[in-house]
Amino acid sequence: MRLYQENGYDGMSRRTAGIIAAQLIAKPDCVLGLATGSTPVGAYQQLAAWHREGGLSFQEVTCVNLDEYKGLAPDHDQSYRYFMQHNLFDHVDVRPGFTNVPDGLAADPAAECLRYDTLIRDLGGIDLQLLGLGRNGHIGFNEPGDAFVRPTHVVDLTPSTIEANARFFANAGEVPRQALTMGIGAIMAARHVVVAVSGADKAQAVHDAFCGPVTPQVPASILQLHPHVTLVGDAPALKLLLEAGGPA
Ligand code: GLP
Repeated sequence: MRLYQENGYDGMSRRTAGIIAAQLIAKPDCVLGLATGSTPVGAYQQLAAWHREGGLSFQEVTCVNLDEYKGLAPDHDQSYRYFMQHNLFDHVDVRPGFTNVPDGLAADPAAECLRYDTLIRDLGGIDLQLLGLGRNGHIGFNEPGDAFVRPTHVVDLTPSTIEANARFFANAGEVPRQALTMGIGAIMAARHVVVAVSGADKAQAVHDAFCGPVTPQVPASILQLHPHVTLVGDAPALKLLLEAGGPA
């Protein structure tokens, strides 16, 4: 595993964007797995700036996002489709039909999950998967549980995730209770996984994910078994991991 400790949120964002830009340059028609949350916003802004000012192109790229809240329409301002449009897709030259987010309004969510896995498989898998990290160690919306779930699936969000994400809604009562998320299978099959973390409130999850036991109670811990992971963080997020001697 490669580890980058960067200077603050901005340094973490710039490094993350640099890794994604390198992927775009090396393989212009790559499949990019993208994430939402506050962590990747700075990296997306940097990519948009490099597109605007430096000609970085997304023209041949296909994007597949990790997850979507069940029950939110694409134009709901807290949906992950809306997030992606506003934070990245509307600011770069990605082709509109080539951005994919699970459909939170699908009448048959199980069929939608199957469609999503088929889509990823037909694309030949994911070249680079960007991940944030939930405070409870979740990736995408793969929540702590008794088993790693391989396929895209509908998940019940844990109280801690609902509470963590309530900051984006008027109140916790408005946070959807379920989501559709890419499973551990597609994430682990990605050829390169880039985990971006920032801030002290991620330090415990980073520690548990990368130097604790591999357990579905900490979904990100499965990444210890992935052959090509890059962890990008700032000092507060990496503190406990580095104090423990670094990744396992
Ligand atoms: C959400 C998303 C995750 C994200 C996590 C952390 O629950 N489903 O993909 O990694 O939040 O978010 P943040 O980056 O805002 O801390």
